[in-house]
Amino acid sequence: MNTLLIGATGGIGQALARHLAGRASRLWLSGRNGQILAGLARDLSALAVPAELGHELEVQALAEEVGPLDLLLYAAGAVQKAGVREQNLADLERLTTANLTGLALLLKYARFNPQARVAVLGVYPDLVSVPGLSAYVATKLGAEGLVNVARKEFRREGVRFCLVRLPAVATDLWAPLGGAPKTALHPEVAAVRILEGVLAEPMADMLEIR
Ligand SMILES: NC(=O)c1ccc[n+]([C@@H]2O[C@H](COP(=O)([O-])OP(=O)(O)OC[C@H]3O[C@@H](n4cnc5c(N)ncnc54)[C@H](OP(=O)(O)O)[C@@H]3O)[C@@H](O)[C@H]2O)c1
Repeated sequence: MNTLLIGATGGIGQALARHLAGRASRLWLSGRNGQILAGLARDLSALAVPAELGHELEVQALAEEVGPLDLLLYAAGAVQKAGVREQNLADLERLTTANLTGLALLLKYARFNPQARVAVLGVYPDLVSVPGLSAYVATKLGAEGLVNVARKEFRREGVRFCLVRLPAVATDLWAPLGGAPKTALHPEVAAVRILEGVLAEPMADMLEIR
């Protein structure tokens, strides 16, 4: 199973990487933090492929290096807290890149083996449609729309898509929001539940993690 994990340096990504190691015949780990990425790849006998998702040429080179995939897991993301009238363009672009553009570029360049799976980490819209999170919810739901269309376009290639809805998970994603709620799932628990669903046969179009 040739597997590419995007956002492997993140809280959920690192947990997913640990649980994928040994299951994937070839595991490619991508992120920006070179130190975390190299350490993780070394510990898990995986391959580190750093890439900035906002740079089209880097994403194209990444897709070419990893070759035809059996599993693509998209676990990159970013959040900020700002009211609709307080947005600044740099933050809007940062969130858009991590939550939406990176996925669009990967789907543009990735090649897939027959019956390949693509899983994208998403949100429960009701939980994040709250003041201060407009850019986060808009970009996450944009990615959901992209997945819904890609599912139809890629059907003839035999590629299947799963949108994974997640509740709060205790990671650094929450730092700009003042920390994760006490009820947040541990990333290891989230990773086990995600992989149970994504590796199931058949894989559902949507996975609702509680
Ligand atoms: N945590 C939650 O409560 C929760 C709930 C629902 C959904 N989700 C979704 O789950 C996913 C993972 O979240 P998390 O909590 O693990 O977040 P996290 O710990 O903040 O990790 C975010 C990851 O995204 C990568 N990233 C961000 N911008 C990037 C860019 N421009 N280019 C390349 N990589 C970039 C980071 O790479 P570097 O660190 O190397 O820069 C890191 O690997 C996200 O899509 C998030 O929206 C999370």
